[in-house]
Amino acid sequence: MSANTIAANRSLRRFYEHESIWLFGYGSLIFKADFPYLDRRPASIDHWVRRFWQGSHDHRGTPSAPGRVVTLIPQKQAVCVGVAYLIELEVFDHLDFREKNGYLRFVANMAFRDKSVVQGTVYIATEENAAFLGEAPESDIARHIAGSAGPSGHNAEYVFNLAQALRALSADDPHVFSVEQHLLNLNQG
Ligand code: SIN
Repeated sequence: MSANTIAANRSLRRFYEHESIWLFGYGSLIFKADFPYLDRRPASIDHWVRRFWQGSHDHRGTPSAPGRVVTLIPQKQAVCVGVAYLIELEVFDHLDFREKNGYLRFVANMAFRDKSVVQGTVYIATEENAAFLGEAPESDIARHIAGSAGPSGHNAEYVFNLAQALRALSADDPHVFSVEQHLLNLNQG
């Protein structure tokens, strides 16, 4: 599958009869909301974990030196904490472009803190996409990130912004916090 998912996402008709849709964000969508939204709430989705396993050619790296950003990986018993945004349908034009490097829109149930559940959309970069990098030791991931930058800025900034946003949500994410700690150690070394 090509890493560019714009056409695949634009062809999805799910929710197109709705005026507004809930979008679950778990990565940069938590800390960089460069789109209009009607509501924003802490939320979680079950059976997924956040991992720095996706290559970034267009934001935190380049085609010849991709950075590493998060995607979701299926895992039983897991709960991924993030943020849900209520958005109007037209916002997908912007989001599909922003998330074009391998992310496809999937339907997901997201739970709010009051335990109510809504169905909405989440962008996930699966292992089939051409930009997927996959698993690596967290220390190696941190070294890779420390040496990467792209049009949206340094790759390490993505990690620090995400870790800070997760702390603000009181979310425990050992993988993100471990990569962050390895990066801090590298900066001190
Ligand atoms: C997301 O934030 O939900 C998708 C991944 C990203 O853009 O970092």
